[in-house]
Amino acid sequence: MDTLQPIEKESIRNASELLFNSKYAIVLTGAGISTESGIPDFRGESGIWKKYKPKIYGSIQSFLKDPSKFWKMAEEIAPTLFNAEPNPGHYAIADLEKLNIIKAIITQNIDELHQKAGNVIVYEVHGNINRFTCLGCRASYTKEQLLRKLKKEKNLPPGCNYCGAPLKPSVVLFGESLPNFEKYMSIDIAKKSDVMLIAGSSLTVTPVCDLPLYTLSEGGKIIIVNDEPTYLDERAEIVINNKTETILPLIVEEIKKIKAEHESKTHN
Ligand SMILES: NC(=O)c1ccc[n+]([C@@H]2O[C@H](COP(=O)([O-])OP(=O)(O)OC[C@H]3O[C@@H](n4cnc5c(N)ncnc54)[C@H](O)[C@@H]3O)[C@@H](O)[C@H]2O)c1
Ligand SMILES: [Zn+2]
Repeated sequence: MDTLQPIEKESIRNASELLFNSKYAIVLTGAGISTESGIPDFRGESGIWKKYKPKIYGSIQSFLKDPSKFWKMAEEIAPTLFNAEPNPGHYAIADLEKLNIIKAIITQNIDELHQKAGNVIVYEVHGNINRFTCLGCRASYTKEQLLRKLKKEKNLPPGCNYCGAPLKPSVVLFGESLPNFEKYMSIDIAKKSDVMLIAGSSLTVTPVCDLPLYTLSEGGKIIIVNDEPTYLDERAEIVINNKTETILPLIVEEIKKIKAEHESKTHN
């Protein structure tokens, strides 16, 4: 806390009060929450994304053109994704759910780190890395089934047991639409929420970057924690340009203090 600017300390206090007094707060996260866990975001296109430009390699068009190229990239990235552990930012969000401050998380991440940290109500609008679908007959495979298959057949792209068509991870690629349930659910809860806490997203990937607009248009407020500015900073109640792994645990600490103050007042 001591390395923070006074303005940041004030923003943490204000954000905590806003969340504590909310009726239906939700969280929207992006790749920035997982960078501390060793998974690079798409900003700066450093490291792995310099080699595999996400908009090119991660599009459905290039997948369909050459699935084996996509799978070679996936094999290289998979260990980082599968072995990543949650960081203090994820654990803080898990605490917010346990404290019943937030009612749900909408995440663009596919890494399952929110669930690993202990969150239960998580809408994964871009899918996750634990299921694989056949592009021919829609047969579905678990991660374990796929790993066994890759070991046995050593074939890229892995082909469906039933129809032979290529398998694709159940993640939303550029050019694909969101899964229906998650799409409508996230719009619904964004409209319903009186406070949306946005953490670690550049708010540049459509259609997720429009979700906060539903909250704003229904009179809700947004709080942004991100280490660079976003297009919604001007419309946000509070903006904290700092690391999620630093700020979110401080917000939880502050909420616990407010809660204790509140409880001691109501008991006296
Ligand atoms: N972990 C993952 O699952 C993962 C990783 C890379 C990309 N993606 C996918 O890529 C798309 C990218 O959109 P996006 O908005 O999620 O990410 P993004 O890469 O566009 O933006 C991430 C934002 O977080 C900020 N940031 C990075 N580290 C931070 C930190 N420690 N604290 C605070 N801010 C930090 C960056 O400056 C950037 O503004 C999404 O569709 C997502 O599904 C997911
Ligand atoms: Zn099939």
